[in-house]
Amino acid sequence: MTSLDLALAGFRSALGHEHVLTDADMVAGYVRDWTGRWTGHTRAVVRPGSVEEVQQVVGICGEHFLPLVPQGGNTGLVGGSIPHHGEVVLSLRRLDRIGPVDERLREVTVDAGVTVGALQTHARRVGLRYGVDLASRDSATVGGTIATNAGGMNVVANGDTRRQVLGLQVVLADGTVASRLGGLSKQSTGPDPFQLMVGSEGTLGIITAARLRLLSRLESEPMVILVGVETLSEGLGLLGAESHALEFFDRACLEAVIEHRKLSRPLLADHPFYVLVETTSPPGVPETLEAVVDRRLWAYRESITETVNQAGVPVKLDVAVPLGRVDDFAAAVAGLRLEGQVYLYGHLAEGNFHLNVVGNPDPEMVVDEVLGIVIGLDGVIASEHGIGVAKAVWWRRSTDPATLTVQHRIKEAFDPGRILNPEVFWGG
Ligand code: FAD
Ligand code: MLT
Ligand code: ZN
Repeated sequence: MTSLDLALAGFRSALGHEHVLTDADMVAGYVRDWTGRWTGHTRAVVRPGSVEEVQQVVGICGEHFLPLVPQGGNTGLVGGSIPHHGEVVLSLRRLDRIGPVDERLREVTVDAGVTVGALQTHARRVGLRYGVDLASRDSATVGGTIATNAGGMNVVANGDTRRQVLGLQVVLADGTVASRLGGLSKQSTGPDPFQLMVGSEGTLGIITAARLRLLSRLESEPMVILVGVETLSEGLGLLGAESHALEFFDRACLEAVIEHRKLSRPLLADHPFYVLVETTSPPGVPETLEAVVDRRLWAYRESITETVNQAGVPVKLDVAVPLGRVDDFAAAVAGLRLEGQVYLYGHLAEGNFHLNVVGNPDPEMVVDEVLGIVIGLDGVIASEHGIGVAKAVWWRRSTDPATLTVQHRIKEAFDPGRILNPEVFWGG
């Protein structure tokens, strides 16, 4: 019997045969990413149903030196949830229990495999809200969003995923469980290993549950306004203290979404950029700007990712620049005259740009040219999707040596055997 045979036998005995998938048909959805840019292969997909079963899987992987890739909803956009070199896929989707909401403290404990959409519905039932929202809400999981420190539409009002996390339960690389689900919002007990899990993309531990902060209901129903602008800095001028979202997209996105979703044209005139504001207090939109108010306007923004994907496999960049440089970035990208169809959209309030290119024959060149501009503008090469494998080389190239050394030591401390998602950050 090979070591792999022994490991598979161990998985089956721990989880039951039906939760250890090896047939090509059965694993297909786990080895290909949402965009179709990355397809890998796997020795097995394992689907534990409890933290104890996660421990057993990790223990078996450690014993047989089998690297593994944690996977939630597989909506990640940087290739981090895909087994690139035959790693075992550890799917967390069966960990889907949602605990009762503590309405007084406005907190809840949920399993890692609960989707963001299910959590939002759960919170709404008791008149509360979860602070993170993103178009992948019905597939993206709590564990995946914590592992990537996902941003989304409401960062301007509620902060990123990190801001919602009060505590975690994590299975470590040696199979032990570290847990802090008590919900204490303030602690002064030394360096916090749980905070390191946020944004670690499955490389430091397996998140199995989280204690999360919920928000109180809004005083009034927010309004949604779409404004046509000439420049993005004009759009930033629409940001107010009561804004819950400030998003933008360019003309190419609007045209593609109208065509793909068969939507009507929202504004009479054509504009280089469109800014969507969600707010409980109407911003003073200058009379010179064309604007329309309607909650259904979100469809234009939220349909972009799906629309771009049906046009072809995109090169996806997710960057941010200082707010004072947003026009410089847009102009510099236009100046590249990239081959293929370019789509520009993002979370304007954070200086975030999702630059997607479909039909370019040299994706690496696109990445190099755009990230070069970002670094030149003092921006960041990964704003909310993470590093994964897509940005690994650039991350190492653009991070100062002292920081890289610390990151390396953290990885060594948490995962000396390098079984946890070894390609992310350090591969490529
Ligand atoms: P996966 O894709 O399964 O995994 C992502 C990473 O997290 C991988 O490295 C994986 O190994 C790790 N991981 C997953 N679960 C765990 C766990 N339990 N423990 C440890 N590591 C784990 N992202 C944004 O930030 N903002 C957006 O607005 C946004 N919009 C999107 C819209 C669409 C239509 C799509 C398809 C994606 C969007 N994304 C967005 C990207 C994606 O949804 C997020 O990155 C999300 O956080 C991924 O969650 P997931 O459960 O699908 O994780
Ligand atoms: C978005 O803001 O729409 C998402 O991050 C997904 C994407 O980048 O396409
Ligand atoms: Zn985004």
